[in-house]
Amino acid sequence: MTIVHLRRARTSLVLDARGPGLPRVVHWGADLGPLPADDLPALVDATVPPVVPSSFDAPTVLSLLPEASAGWSGRPGLAGHREGRDWSTAFRLDTVDVDDPRGDGGEAVRVSERERDHGGAGAARVTVRAADPGAGLSLTVEITLSAAGLLTVRHRLRNDGDRPYEVRELTPVLPVPAVATELLDLTGRWCRERAPQRHQWPMGAWVREGRHGRTGHDATLLLVAGTPGFGFGHGETWAVHTAWSGDHVTVAERRPTGEATLGGGELLAPGEILLGPGAEYATPLLYAVHSADGLDGLSDVLHTHLRARPEHPRGPRPVTLNVWEAVYFDHDLDRLKGLADRAAEVGVERFVLDDGWFRGRRHDRAGLGDWWVDDDVWPDGLQPLIDHVRKHGMQFGLWVEPEMVNPDSDLFRAHPDWVLQAPGRLPPEWRHQQVLDLAHPDAYAHLLDRLDAVLREHDGIAYLKWDHNRDLTEAGHAGRPGVHAQTAAVYRLLDELRARHPGLEIESCSSGGARVDLEILRRTDRVWASDCNDALERLSIQRWTGLLLPPELIGTHIGPERSHTTHRVHDLGFRAVTALFGHHGIEWDISGISATERIELAAWVALHKRLRPLLHGGRVVRVDHPDPTVQAHGVVAHDRSHAVYAVSRLATSAAQVPGPVRLPGLDPSRRYLVRPPAGVPEPALLELAPPGWLASDGGVTVSGSVLGSVGLQVPALHPEQALLLEVTAVDRNF
Ligand code: DGJ
Repeated sequence: MTIVHLRRARTSLVLDARGPGLPRVVHWGADLGPLPADDLPALVDATVPPVVPSSFDAPTVLSLLPEASAGWSGRPGLAGHREGRDWSTAFRLDTVDVDDPRGDGGEAVRVSERERDHGGAGAARVTVRAADPGAGLSLTVEITLSAAGLLTVRHRLRNDGDRPYEVRELTPVLPVPAVATELLDLTGRWCRERAPQRHQWPMGAWVREGRHGRTGHDATLLLVAGTPGFGFGHGETWAVHTAWSGDHVTVAERRPTGEATLGGGELLAPGEILLGPGAEYATPLLYAVHSADGLDGLSDVLHTHLRARPEHPRGPRPVTLNVWEAVYFDHDLDRLKGLADRAAEVGVERFVLDDGWFRGRRHDRAGLGDWWVDDDVWPDGLQPLIDHVRKHGMQFGLWVEPEMVNPDSDLFRAHPDWVLQAPGRLPPEWRHQQVLDLAHPDAYAHLLDRLDAVLREHDGIAYLKWDHNRDLTEAGHAGRPGVHAQTAAVYRLLDELRARHPGLEIESCSSGGARVDLEILRRTDRVWASDCNDALERLSIQRWTGLLLPPELIGTHIGPERSHTTHRVHDLGFRAVTALFGHHGIEWDISGISATERIELAAWVALHKRLRPLLHGGRVVRVDHPDPTVQAHGVVAHDRSHAVYAVSRLATSAAQVPGPVRLPGLDPSRRYLVRPPAGVPEPALLELAPPGWLASDGGVTVSGSVLGSVGLQVPALHPEQALLLEVTAVDRNF
């Protein structure tokens, strides 16, 4: 048993695993460098608090699983019991296995810049095993520190007793130092996902619960604690993400005794997890990330880590046209073929047929569950459309909502018992639908079979848009709470379908962005950020979704001129610049647009394709601008030779000139040419003369230090207009 020091990228984790109780996280944060082994006990001692009056006679130890038996009186790490007994634990350490291939152990770890940026090298892993024979429980804690510096923690609890043990709560937590005094998290609703909320971190617990049976429109994605005034480019920050697509909780807790923690786990209903003898419960992965450089630093670690995963989508992300807002339920082969022709003309690479293609689905009140092509609407099936789309060189994608069933469907009429429900009553309907009970083996087998058949019976379905349009309410399986089993079954279903159809890509959609989390993303290839395609709303939704996810995983489409969900009207330029920074697409009936608009749309799509390697591989930066009506963000190539930024004016403001916009992330010692990209129209302005540097067509050449520290005055953009800037290094070491 030892003190473990793991180092990856810019992060260190120090664990005091000398026993006899569970290990304590002594430090999770900035890289401490190659500490000599002799320094580690001193580091541990330096972090042990004094014993103060009116408290325990020995210092309280916050372990990886906070326990009352170790003097912890905050939220417990484990709550559970065996028929009212074994309700408190005192785990004793058995073993600590450290697998640290490029290990520290006091040695310097040389992480090259390349490895850092691409997360290519191996992770460090620690496995802790402990037991409480009195309580009849054993615990395994799995910790990984990825090459990018992303920490994960998972607890596994096993019932060693001979009677069932109920797990009510099992939540990994990590300590955060006292310098973190502010919290930031995200909330939201349909069409307004990921709204940030920020406040001082008070004493007590800030608890973000999601009881939707799905991740939720209001899911925080990250819960961030940071030093006063932290921003995108400054401040020290710590953040956690609870990777679970069912009910879950993410918590920040600060105690008068001085400790502060971040944690997260699954929200379990009474009786939901009853472990039989020898059975085990595993928590969702808690992802944890530290940054010395503000929120952008958190995204750096997360994006680098995600991009290094073997399952990360490779290759150019196809520009997509989704037909939902173009035709809704009005499916007509000729109309859709015409739309596909127009799509191909403007450069679309994937054509997705949305809701409405299956039996009885003429509106949203019927048909879900009957996954057969509707012969009335598609007398020759979908293949003619698929062939037409593929003749244009585009991929074909299809919408499904597998977990759902309308009471008005053949499936429900035949199997009313295949629905999640409390005994004796159905949950209240939501969009006229109920949820299939996937823990029911027959329901699961039927669904897998149908989805498999739809894919096999058509030649060329490359992509599924997998939707999920209601919360799980009173979601019971066989009379017991069923969200946990349902969530696990959905993961299994996705895994099995992908195994049967290698190469199939899947989008995670849930009434827009209600299923965005890192566990669903282990088996899906992008998320639909929101049903709102209004560019003004999207700027904020995408900015905050992007805190967790790199742009290539976030679906961003150009919607119609008048937004269907807000009624706002926007120029194509504003819509296109906003949709440029993601997995780009179109969700608009372009069969009726003018030739001029079509040419402009094609130019924007072409620009996206030209910039795509940068947008989908570079480092995301966001600007801390003092005027809240200015929102600027960009993507910078890892070698800092190329970047693209968007500066958007959200509204007018009291200041006529909002002040220069800094362009972060560039190399201060290089010179850059900055100019709006050619071939696309400029935004609408209210000015008599442009800022000096924009007066000539050639843009301006200036150093990275000037761009990062002084910035550029931007033209007087009208509200709801955006300026795109392309930045190219022109020399080195001037
Ligand atoms: C909700 C999705 O978010 C939309 O994009 C669309 O697919 C509809 N469902 C279809 O019912």
